[in-house]
Amino acid sequence: MTHQRQKCVAIDLQTAEFKANPHTTWQQLQAQGSVITTRIPLLGRVALTTRQAESRIVMRDTTRFTLDGRQVGHKQSAGMRWWVPGLLKPLANNLLTLEGEEHRSLRQRVDYAFRRVRLDALQPLINEVAQQQIDTLADALSRHGQADFVTLVARPMPQQVISSLLGLSEKSHRDDHDLNRSLSRLGSIRGATDLFRALPGIRTITKQLEHEIQHRKQNPQSDLLSELVSPDGDGRPLSDDEILAMVFLLYVAGHETTTHLMSLSLWTLLNGTVAGASDFLPLTEKAVNELLRFTSPVQMTKPRFSLYDQQLGNVWIKRGETVAALIGAANHDDTWINNPSVLDLARSPVKHLGFGGGAHVCLGMHLAIRETATLLNMLFAQHPNIALRPTSTTAWNQRVGLRAMDSLMLVKIP
Ligand code: HEM
Repeated sequence: MTHQRQKCVAIDLQTAEFKANPHTTWQQLQAQGSVITTRIPLLGRVALTTRQAESRIVMRDTTRFTLDGRQVGHKQSAGMRWWVPGLLKPLANNLLTLEGEEHRSLRQRVDYAFRRVRLDALQPLINEVAQQQIDTLADALSRHGQADFVTLVARPMPQQVISSLLGLSEKSHRDDHDLNRSLSRLGSIRGATDLFRALPGIRTITKQLEHEIQHRKQNPQSDLLSELVSPDGDGRPLSDDEILAMVFLLYVAGHETTTHLMSLSLWTLLNGTVAGASDFLPLTEKAVNELLRFTSPVQMTKPRFSLYDQQLGNVWIKRGETVAALIGAANHDDTWINNPSVLDLARSPVKHLGFGGGAHVCLGMHLAIRETATLLNMLFAQHPNIALRPTSTTAWNQRVGLRAMDSLMLVKIP
């Protein structure tokens, strides 16, 4: 092994062709090595792991890789570029940019709210929201003969659930400023231009949330925001900036990704990928995990910094350089999963890295699986005759790191 930097591979992980059929690209990348180096917009040069073993090291081994930019000389944990506006910096110092005790103490404040036992209590709300959105979809199908599943169901449902859980919905309905709509726009920032355009909106949201935080301090309610502002919760009391950053992260992480799991799963079940999909209804949580493995809506982890010069797989990485796990590829690693390119709804056990791993493993994984299973099972039970609109070309979203569709047109078959 020479300690030479690996040459950058020219790959475009944003194209519609890649999003429609990523399997071929993953196989090609795996053939080049368990780690490949490329350039990604906004991130620059980054080493990407293509197999399970190296992906696990990147996610779990905090003695080798860190999310906290301060450990490799950046001023902020998020390791943000100098031009990123000051307004965003406190928001970016969140669970996903901190390590060790700082991360543990923050995570402790929210862990309990996303455990299965708390989610059991949330199930009636999940059912109610799913039913509302399914009725809206059915109504649109009856009136127009076609309807968009993403806009009418997959986007609003997780958004309403996470808003209620946090305690944001009442305020946003009452207020002229639509807090939910503004927060959800944050999830679609693709680059520096979008970021600067979004600043006035972010300023308004920040002010509103600051107001809500102060209000909850005086008038606690039975929601997660009240638990976060309370000095008596699990773990240490949080500062207002920490609460703000947490609410931003939970809101954005809590609905966007679930939206994409819902739409990718429905698309996969309806497009003939698996014969006799209806034999597997109602879908179990395991089957939804297999859909997650197969579709991999989050394609890539947040980049980590290398803590020292080191070898990872077949490449040499210098201290401070960035490395991320290509989750989609790792979920299709044939040295780990039998027949990874087959969607097997009866697969057991289901192994995947779709929710990451290690200390930063997804906080909302049980919620996401539960929401998706509830929605798809209710939809198929009540409307077994839905199908993909035959003439549609899928509208793939071009954001790097996510596999997502902007719309999914459905029709009813007579
Ligand atoms: C299908 C849906 C979802 C997928 C595929 C997904 C995926 C992921 C992945 C891969 C990570 C790790 C990122 C990394 O290590 O760089 C992560 C972390 C996280 N996710 Fe999710 N997620 C989903 C839904 C949710 C939901 C519903 C919430 C609700 C709160 C949520 C909240 C979070 C948070 C807070 C973290 C950071 C945890 C930490 O740093 O300790 N996610 N998610």
